[in-house]
Amino acid sequence: MKKTLILVVALMFVVGVAGMASAQISGSVHDFSGSIAWSVTTGEICKPCHAPHTTNVDLDSILWNHDPSLVAAYQPYASSTMNDTAGQPDGHSKLCLSCHDGTVSINAFPGEAGGGAMVAGSLQIAKGGDDLRGQHPISMLYDAGATSDDNLVYPASSVLFGANTLDQVLPGGKVQCSTCHDVHNTLGETNGAFLLRLDNSASGMCLACHVK
Ligand code: HEC
Ligand code: HEC
Ligand code: HEC
Ligand code: HEC
Repeated sequence: MKKTLILVVALMFVVGVAGMASAQISGSVHDFSGSIAWSVTTGEICKPCHAPHTTNVDLDSILWNHDPSLVAAYQPYASSTMNDTAGQPDGHSKLCLSCHDGTVSINAFPGEAGGGAMVAGSLQIAKGGDDLRGQHPISMLYDAGATSDDNLVYPASSVLFGANTLDQVLPGGKVQCSTCHDVHNTLGETNGAFLLRLDNSASGMCLACHVK
């Protein structure tokens, strides 16, 4: 009896650890330890994005290490029916764009040579480097002064968005890249590809915000 219990507990531990092992940077699309032509930093998995000592103090800190985008001004999404305006990308969206606009190479960070591969063309969100007009708006307020906007789910702290509440994924009240995507892959492939925070089959993620 006791042996069975120990076996069951041991099995639970193994399954638990194995489950966790797939849900992290290591081995994910954001693990560059095998794909970058490293010169000196020997495959540290955090370093392309964060370092314990860095000079990029302007990029909302979080010890950001990757070289910033070369784009001075983007063409943001624009439409006559938006409540708020999607202005220049701000917050953590700028961090994603430092690779995903396709102007800075993956290995462009202190200690590395730079000038290596860019993200693949199909993953370059700012087509042509600065063009965000065809992408879901970012860096605008989720709810621009309108609790009365009945086209949107109101971000009360009780409304769930995947493993978080909706207001937890809206830093400063804004929609950013990291609202929909989980850059560290902590959820693994639970929600399919693209590191989504929420399963988008049957457009489930869209409907978590849009009342349509
Ligand atoms: C591909 C780039 C990338 C890599 C690699 C990466 N991070 Fe991050 N990290 C980010 C971005 C972008 C944010 C901001 C995320 C957000 O706004 O949700 C962030 C936020 C954080 C934060 C603060 C917010 C939080 O989620 O707790 C910590 C701590 C952190 N990362 C630690 C790490 C560690 C440790 C590693 C290596 C194991 C790592 N990151 C690898 C891009 C990266
Ligand atoms: C409103 C939610 C949302 C926001 C905000 C968002 N994405 Fe996405 N993204 C998605 C979904 C959903 C997909 C899955 C592909 C699809 O359905 O077209 C995706 C796909 C992608 C892909 C795969 C290539 C592609 O075009 O399909 C990349 C790379 C990406 N997003 C990066 C970003 C970056 C960088 C930002 C910020 C500039 C961002 N995303 C903002 C929802 C979002
Ligand atoms: C240091 C550069 C870098 C940064 C910073 C970065 N990415 Fe990526 N990302 C990549 C590369 C390179 C790939 C493609 C890896 C591959 O397929 O080999 C990728 C892949 C992706 C994909 C495709 C996932 C899939 O399943 O195909 C998404 C979505 C994505 N990134 C979103 C983001 C978001 C959102 C941020 C910011 C929160 C971000 N990335 C920050 C370099 C970066
Ligand atoms: C985290 C919440 C959130 C998610 C998830 C989300 N959206 Fe949005 N979306 C918004 C907000 C907020 C706006 C801006 C609304 C406004 O200001 O009128 C917006 C704007 C839009 C617009 C432009 C509306 C206009 O008036 O120009 C379209 C179209 C749209 N979203 C479609 C989608 C689709 C399709 C998905 C799923 C792939 C999706 N959204 C996922 C929050 C979200």
